[in-house]
Amino acid sequence: MQDKIKKIVKEIEGYRPANEDDLEQFRIKYLGKKGVVNDLFVEFKNVAPENRKETGMLLNQLKNKAEEKFELYKKELVKNSDFSGENRDLTLSSSELELGSRHPISIVRNEIIQIFSRLGFNISEGPEVEDDWHNFTALNFPEEHPARDMQDTFFVQKNPDIALRTHTSSVQVRVMENTKPPIKTISPGRVFRNEAISARAHCIFHQIEGLYVDKNVSFADLKQTLLYFAKEMFGEKTEIRLRPSFFPFTEPSAEMDISCNICGGKGCNVCKYNGWVEILGCGMVDPNVLENCKIDSKKYTGFAFGMGIERIAMLKYQIKDLRLFFENDVRFLKQFKSAL
Ligand code: DAH
Repeated sequence: MQDKIKKIVKEIEGYRPANEDDLEQFRIKYLGKKGVVNDLFVEFKNVAPENRKETGMLLNQLKNKAEEKFELYKKELVKNSDFSGENRDLTLSSSELELGSRHPISIVRNEIIQIFSRLGFNISEGPEVEDDWHNFTALNFPEEHPARDMQDTFFVQKNPDIALRTHTSSVQVRVMENTKPPIKTISPGRVFRNEAISARAHCIFHQIEGLYVDKNVSFADLKQTLLYFAKEMFGEKTEIRLRPSFFPFTEPSAEMDISCNICGGKGCNVCKYNGWVEILGCGMVDPNVLENCKIDSKKYTGFAFGMGIERIAMLKYQIKDLRLFFENDVRFLKQFKSAL
């Protein structure tokens, strides 16, 4: 009988309930009226007197083990399933709440907005589904002109007049149509181009457009504004360089490079060993554009600029693949902490 008891003790020691029903089966099997323990007590009557003491002790141990096991798991199951509060252990520490973080594109966009708002620029927005006039024609893209091919367009419902905006320059037109100078505004937003997705290009990305129209606005104002921006964004030591370029809506037009913020201009693989990286397009608003928006180009001049937010973020955080911004992998996203 002693061997039998020892075997059952082992059995009980290895027991883990799968659920509440399982535990109840355990109770019935071992501790129930007709259970194993009671049966053994009945059998105990037949044990020879010289073995009684030892067998009795073993039997009591078995009973205690079975009761302990049952109580332990009963408590645990209650803890996990009882929401009444009665049996809840309020001293347990709570599970940690993970806070989200701002997307790096939002962080950089907000930083750019803050820099320009210190110079008195306000914020304007326009629609993402845009008509041909605001996206192209008013901006001096002649019809059928190859300049329209600079930006591969997504058209909406085969209507050649309605498209997803290819740039935030469309917002310039809307603001100039609706506001009298002086105008000093920046327009952040999403833009869309029919482009193959790669490490350097995406069909959806973000831009910020800038526009300043007033009497006597000059190219020197443009340069000084952009120099201030570059230093605020990339550090006091940053230098800028303007290269002549072409955009239909500005004359003259330029592209702006900054001294490489990674190597400080000495040359590295980010700047392709020439010390400069391109960050934006800019120029003086073409008089045709002002006239298209009913602004007197004899009285007013203006400058404009446009930049890709992803590009700025990639340079600022040294991110090599643009696609990371769109995958929303939290392991990537939670690295960016910001007060903005
Ligand atoms: N819209 C241009 C683009 O998407 C960027 C740009 C260039 C905007 C020059 C401007 C500008 O306002 O003056 O490539």
